[in-house]
Amino acid sequence: MLPAEAPTLEAIRSPIAEPFERFETELDEPFLCDVGLVGTVGAHLHRAYGKRFRPTLVLLAAKGFGRVTEEAIFGAVVVELIHTATLIHDDSIDKSLLRRGLPTVNSAFSNDTAILMGDYLYSKAFSILVTRRMYDAMDLLAEATHRMSQGELRQIEQKNKLDLTETEYMRVIDEKTACLMSAGCDLGANAGGADKKRRAALNRFGRAVGLAFQITDDVFDYLGAENVIGKAMGNDLDGGKITLPLINALKEAPERERRDMEDLIRSRDFRNGHWSDVVRFVTAHGGVAYSQKRSAELADRAEQELDLVPDLEIRESLQSAVRYAVTRER
Ligand code: IPE
Ligand code: IPE
Ligand code: MG
Ligand code: MG
Repeated sequence: MLPAEAPTLEAIRSPIAEPFERFETELDEPFLCDVGLVGTVGAHLHRAYGKRFRPTLVLLAAKGFGRVTEEAIFGAVVVELIHTATLIHDDSIDKSLLRRGLPTVNSAFSNDTAILMGDYLYSKAFSILVTRRMYDAMDLLAEATHRMSQGELRQIEQKNKLDLTETEYMRVIDEKTACLMSAGCDLGANAGGADKKRRAALNRFGRAVGLAFQITDDVFDYLGAENVIGKAMGNDLDGGKITLPLINALKEAPERERRDMEDLIRSRDFRNGHWSDVVRFVTAHGGVAYSQKRSAELADRAEQELDLVPDLEIRESLQSAVRYAVTRER
């Protein structure tokens, strides 16, 4: 069973405090570039501090099976760079204005800058892997990023699809979000010295955490507090993203109410003072509760993959990370 209290990231990271600091230092290097704009955008990103959840998993996975090696540190850097690149692109695609409590790159600079800065960080990530000859990590991350783009494209294909099924939704979030977490946990475990079987367990762990993490994020889009999560609510539906809370509510609502809601969504009138109706619909028909139940189940599934982690302190931290993924407020 999971502990009752919501753990803090600081507590989760306490057994890897030193390597985490090193990770932070190494994360600055990719922004050193003789193109002034890279440094300017880098400084902006530096102010808009993310949770660093993925690199935390990478470092914990490494220590869980041995120690945090150089490969784990740079693996964490590369994973965070890839994540940052996808967020910058995601905000440009979604035309989002707010990220981590600050203006997005597309709004503070321009769309062109966002596209190219995302490419810059993505290519820098792979160039680090090549320079450091991290071929196992490259193998995992090439596959993961390929699948992430597939997921993002699939999401475009499924835009405004009101009859999207839970299975279709799960496939997209597996690709766009869970993939990178499973690759990160796998590469961390590998860097720390885990054998094939243990790596596979950590890979499955990362996947379940990633799915739970994204479902939690999708609930925020309906229920979060903008000043806490640091990004706008209602963005998903606004951009035609049909996510689990809505999928489930549409499935459970009586025919008549479902049709009315579908009409409201199709008319896009929910943007003019009717957003609270959508939130009420999703909540009243159990979409939020169902999503929370699904993410809790995935969290349990993730926890079950940790039995082979020999370092008990790290195992506990990884358990807390799972708990964090589903109880966090931002
Ligand atoms: C946001 O990821 C995108 C999702 C996969 C939900 P995070 O919630 O990890 O974003 P930051 O890095 O902390 O800002
Ligand atoms: C996650 O989806 C995006 C990526 C995996 C790049 P979202 O669109 O829900 O992410 P946020 O909410 O903008 O952070
Ligand atoms: Mg988005
Ligand atoms: Mg979101």
